[in-house]
Amino acid sequence: MSATNPQPVQHLADYRPWPFGLTETRLDLTLAPRDTIVRAALDLAPRDASDPQDLVLDGGAGLRLQALRIDGQAPDPVHVTRTDEQLIIAAAALPHAPFTLETEVAIDPADNTAFEGLYLSGGMFCTQCEAEGFRHITFYPDRPDVMTTFRVTLRSALPVRLSNGNPVGDADGVAEWHDPWPKPAYLFALVAGDLVAVSDRFTTRSGRDVALNVWVRPGDQDRAGFAMESLIKSMRWDEDVYGREYDLDVFNIVAVDDFNMGAMENKGLNIFNSKLVLASPETATDTDYERIEAVIAHEYFHNWTGNRITCRDWFQLCLKEGLTVFRDQQFTSDMRSAAVKRIEDVQTLRARQFREDQGPLAHPPRPDRYEEINNFYTATVYEKGAEVIGMLKNLVGDDGYARALDLYFTRHDGDAATIEDWLTVFQDATGRDLTQFKRWYTDAGTPTLEMTEDWQDGTLTLTFAQSTPPTPGQPDKPARVIPIAVGLIGPNGDEVTPTRVLEMTEARQSFTFDGLGARPVVSVLRGFSAPVMLKRPLDDATRAFLLAHDTDPFARWEAGRELALSALTQGDAAQKAYIAAIGTLAADEGADPAFRALCLTLPGEEEIATRIAAGGATPDPDAIHATRSDLARRIALTHQDLLAGLYDAMTVPGAYSPDAQSAARRSLRIAALGLLSRIDGGDRAAVLFGIASNMTERMAALAVLVRLGRATSALQILSDEFGDNRLVMDKWFSVQVMAAPPEQAVAIARDLAAHRDFDWQNPNRFRALLGGLAANHAGFHAADGSGYDFTADWLIRMDAANPQIAARMSTAFEIWPRYDAPRRAHARNALERIATLAGLSRNTREMVSRMIA
Ligand code: PHE
Ligand code: ZN
Repeated sequence: MSATNPQPVQHLADYRPWPFGLTETRLDLTLAPRDTIVRAALDLAPRDASDPQDLVLDGGAGLRLQALRIDGQAPDPVHVTRTDEQLIIAAAALPHAPFTLETEVAIDPADNTAFEGLYLSGGMFCTQCEAEGFRHITFYPDRPDVMTTFRVTLRSALPVRLSNGNPVGDADGVAEWHDPWPKPAYLFALVAGDLVAVSDRFTTRSGRDVALNVWVRPGDQDRAGFAMESLIKSMRWDEDVYGREYDLDVFNIVAVDDFNMGAMENKGLNIFNSKLVLASPETATDTDYERIEAVIAHEYFHNWTGNRITCRDWFQLCLKEGLTVFRDQQFTSDMRSAAVKRIEDVQTLRARQFREDQGPLAHPPRPDRYEEINNFYTATVYEKGAEVIGMLKNLVGDDGYARALDLYFTRHDGDAATIEDWLTVFQDATGRDLTQFKRWYTDAGTPTLEMTEDWQDGTLTLTFAQSTPPTPGQPDKPARVIPIAVGLIGPNGDEVTPTRVLEMTEARQSFTFDGLGARPVVSVLRGFSAPVMLKRPLDDATRAFLLAHDTDPFARWEAGRELALSALTQGDAAQKAYIAAIGTLAADEGADPAFRALCLTLPGEEEIATRIAAGGATPDPDAIHATRSDLARRIALTHQDLLAGLYDAMTVPGAYSPDAQSAARRSLRIAALGLLSRIDGGDRAAVLFGIASNMTERMAALAVLVRLGRATSALQILSDEFGDNRLVMDKWFSVQVMAAPPEQAVAIARDLAAHRDFDWQNPNRFRALLGGLAANHAGFHAADGSGYDFTADWLIRMDAANPQIAARMSTAFEIWPRYDAPRRAHARNALERIATLAGLSRNTREMVSRMIA
């Protein structure tokens, strides 16, 4: 395939600076569904007048070029070339001094179903330019290291007209905006629509008065208040913790219904998927509220880590994303329970990033080649990128981290920087050599860390061995620096040695603790101090001891997790030990209810499969599903009274509030409900669905009813009540597939795909259905291949409309090689059917060819 249709591969090693300087960009847009006119003026200057270069601008066939002028004159057409993706003006036609290039193009936002560049969503004009969307709006050097100030004129009869920076004027259908901060094109944005705002103000600590607006469709204002609260908290937090202030007079957030991703940090004009803005107790769950708070913060934090300091090229994506995820994780820890947040983040990392590392799509946080950059907005770049920063902070300490960040902001403000710049800042601020540490950025794969213990005469020796399996293009992995946080607990349950960070740098290395009285129990990888898979020979009794006594909440939860996995894969004795231990924990009224809920929740089927595969065995989805269900039932039978008591006691009285404490109680209540439903036939869930007024409890109840096949009337009630609410209907679609009994999941998905409300071109709706099926592990991996075929059919259909969404959803297949031969044959067939399709997008082609390589 690739031999007959070679794709251009981008290589990190090929980076060259752009041969021109750009001092200002002026845009003038006359908005219309068809024939939007974009006039652009770029003030350019050759970097080296003695070495004339062609001017190469990005922009493809979708741009209808209507005028082209250099300093007011049309160049001779012999000097102008258009390719599929570029406009090239020969050096011979360019002045050797500063000049202005003007272009005029026409584009059709109404036909833009890929939601990249300028498009229409529900009658509103909006843009998405990261990573390479600006080239669909006008001809431009669409690369992040070309930064300049922008002046934008927007002409539209729609009442609200927004762009980046500060407003200069808005009258008679013409709005002008000026962004004084140089930025790359990927941070450009505009919005025009019939919108209303929830507004507030914020005064920065140096006294700048900032107008804040959250723009939504008329009627949605009453669901935008939480987003505004979250924004204000984020602004304050970034001042308090990182000393970072906002730098414009306005900060606008706009919610749109059609959006490929979660949200986008365009300078001064963040654009959000409406599901990450709109929330009310009746329509959003506690998880939605927590996500909204975190993503509002994430996008706001990008103003410094991403916008003021951006990336030199897209290989450096984790420079802004890893750091900004790390910062939003810190923010959530400060706003809510730090222990619970850490456990949630590790769960996400394992479910998504470890899985990615285990399959053919494995890549380092900083890749060195790609065909389509949109395929690299991955769990590895984001979540592992954040973990790497957490390790760095662990190694240099809180003070070292603070000094390094201050230096980063002063040294690189206004720059398009690299991972090398980032590490150099840490070296300069702390004096530490980070040469070996850098491997975390350049090497793919999850290291396995094996620990053995030796005890002699009051001395404990811990020996660690690390190894990382080969990943595509990287057969051999040298040893990495691994920070291993360790504490020791005495036989009576008291901590005898508080947390100490061991720095492992060799493939195999020992550390000793001496002067110990009795042999302690080792609590290792506290706080999940490194993203590795830990293997240690440990009996279930010791795991239960750690679950009862560990002072580190993550390690404590982890002990319970290990016990659960042992119960799921070993025999009856392991199950008994596990069930007894979590009973004790669930009954511990001194512990945070959210923590108890996490301990009561069994590992997901995907996580169990990942663990089995990491141990070299072949996961059987049906067996995993059955074993997990049996274990849940046994827990319920054993702890019936305790769970029923918790279910009642964790009722949250009064009006719904999304705060962490109330959410924690609801999460424990829901965990109890889920287990009890294994033995009460779903009666409690049916009652709860009928009486609950908040979406958190209603969705939890509905998931139980769907699993038990008794959700017909509940689903009807929900669609009667919320049929016109897209976000609730997304949940309605996804829960039916995600929670379905696996043997029915594909059939249900097929029926739902024919439903009149299955508006498949809406990314949220498509993800609700196809992502819902992918999340039903045994359903998607149905032995007859029907889950694969159904998904492949829809990927093919979606690819023609929206390549980014199709390519992203194709990751449902990313771990196909770990299953049994018949399943592998079905999966390969489905993937090959996609791969051989004529006209397949670059996005999906790259994904599928990596998966079947
Ligand atoms: N940069 C966005 C974020 O992480 C994500 C995004 C990428 C959105 C590409 C749209 C397109 O916050
Ligand atoms: Zn981001």
